[in-house]
Amino acid sequence: MARFDFDELFDDDYLHFYRPFLDDDVTDDEAELVAELAEIGEGTRVLDLACGHGRIANRLAGFGADVVGIDRCETFLDKARSDATARGVEVEFRSGDMRALDARSEFDVVVSWFTSFGYHDDDTCRDILRRIHAALRPGGRLLIETLNRDLGLLTMEERPTIKEVDGEFMIDLARFDPLDGRLHVRRFVTRNGERIRAMRYFIRLFTFTELREWLRDAGFGLVSGYGGEGEVYRLDSSRMVVVAHQ
Ligand SMILES: C[S@@+](CC[C@H](N)C(=O)[O-])C[C@H]1O[C@@H](n2cnc3c(N)ncnc32)[C@H](O)[C@@H]1O
Repeated sequence: MARFDFDELFDDDYLHFYRPFLDDDVTDDEAELVAELAEIGEGTRVLDLACGHGRIANRLAGFGADVVGIDRCETFLDKARSDATARGVEVEFRSGDMRALDARSEFDVVVSWFTSFGYHDDDTCRDILRRIHAALRPGGRLLIETLNRDLGLLTMEERPTIKEVDGEFMIDLARFDPLDGRLHVRRFVTRNGERIRAMRYFIRLFTFTELREWLRDAGFGLVSGYGGEGEVYRLDSSRMVVVAHQ
């Protein structure tokens, strides 16, 4: 299996360079979309799986949901907890790995937001979907938000992408391998004039129909597709949001 530098990838540099995608205005809109698509309201029991620094989980709790957030990155969880305190909401943030999820009929909704599914080999990813299915109550919903693979591949350019935030640089060299369906990325980060840090990661990309098949294999029934603004999924949608019913 290709290399995935988890601890290198998810650290303070991630929060720094992704700031434009994670800021309050963007996240407020995303949390509203999550609540609308997954029918989250007062008392809905929600699991935010790979919750990161809690930006979605804390807002869903602000809508009255009863939220658990799980992530494997301790520093993100610390940030999530202090943000919850600042917002005056209660969320149970647990340190954990999605590969070991063992909840049974506990949640009305599981949320996997901002490309948080597809970091493992195919068998493991399918097992995670089965675990999520088991964690949901009858009638429960799973939301997966990820890249629009079709659009991504049509518009992909064979050149590095550079993110600049506050004069610091993150450079990605991405290559899609059609034999394993993964975007393989070599990432180079330089901050505070320090030497360049290099890391590798990959993300499994799905067409809507492929992910729907995986979800059905994992036991889900109705599966619907939306774009990043909540529109019915189209080739030119900025993102893909899949809603699967238990
Ligand atoms: C791109 S971030 C998205 C975080 C969050 N969902 C959001 O919308 O901001 C992906 C997250 O997945 C977490 N993660 C990666 N692999 C994981 C695993 N096996 N189990 C739990 N969390 C994981 C990382 O620590 C990181 O916080």
